[in-house]
Amino acid sequence: MTLAIIGGTGLTSLAGLEIARREMVHTPYGEPSAPVTHGDLHGRRVIFLARHGYGHTIPPHRVNFRANLWALKHVGAEQLVAVAAVGSIDDAFKPGDLAFPDQIIDYTAGREHTYFDEDVNHIDFTYPYDPKLRQRMVAAAEEANVGYVAGGCYAATQGPRLETAAEIKRLARDGSTMVGMTGMPEAALARELNLAYATCAVCANWAAGLHGQETVAMNDIEANLNQGMAQVRSLLGAFIPRL
Ligand code: HPA
Repeated sequence: MTLAIIGGTGLTSLAGLEIARREMVHTPYGEPSAPVTHGDLHGRRVIFLARHGYGHTIPPHRVNFRANLWALKHVGAEQLVAVAAVGSIDDAFKPGDLAFPDQIIDYTAGREHTYFDEDVNHIDFTYPYDPKLRQRMVAAAEEANVGYVAGGCYAATQGPRLETAAEIKRLARDGSTMVGMTGMPEAALARELNLAYATCAVCANWAAGLHGQETVAMNDIEANLNQGMAQVRSLLGAFIPRL
């Protein structure tokens, strides 16, 4: 099963990836965020795409999710690991650590969110992440000895602004344990294309208003993401050889 990795904020390139070639894929939905990179990582063929472009220039609400996922499917991806920076709403999910959510609540608006515009087609989305792929990532996290939380509920917000303290309280009441801006429609589009999809969330910060913060400090985010991405690399080192 060919693996693709979508890198988010903090992961615009994959350290250790031996790049074979870059391919610009033109899709019926427009241009993907960047050329698709084909390469080898830990001895396996891997496809990589930078969600926000290689220069990290595309904001979350402008990402062409339909083109990105279609392009990955087109070049042969069968399973998809989505790395995504999030804010944490769960005391156990600490800045710099990883989480493998098992549920999603979609709070986004106005995004191109489906391939089924011309025909009536309803995907099952009870469990939005592929359970087997998720379980394998959790096992790899355990083996790699990284800091992680095994499950969680990902709240997808519209951005690009961060949330208010009251909005975070509402997300917590709804049962969300993390918040990010790109989880949807990405997960649903993957399901529409029959791609096995799971998210590796990286905690960049405590969500707004939590842990006594007056404001969310942007310079802390960068340090936490650096730590988190080091853990993602360890995770992939355990995950990929077992594919
Ligand atoms: N909110 C939404 N998206 C995010 C956050 C956050 O606090 N941190 C990183 N991505």
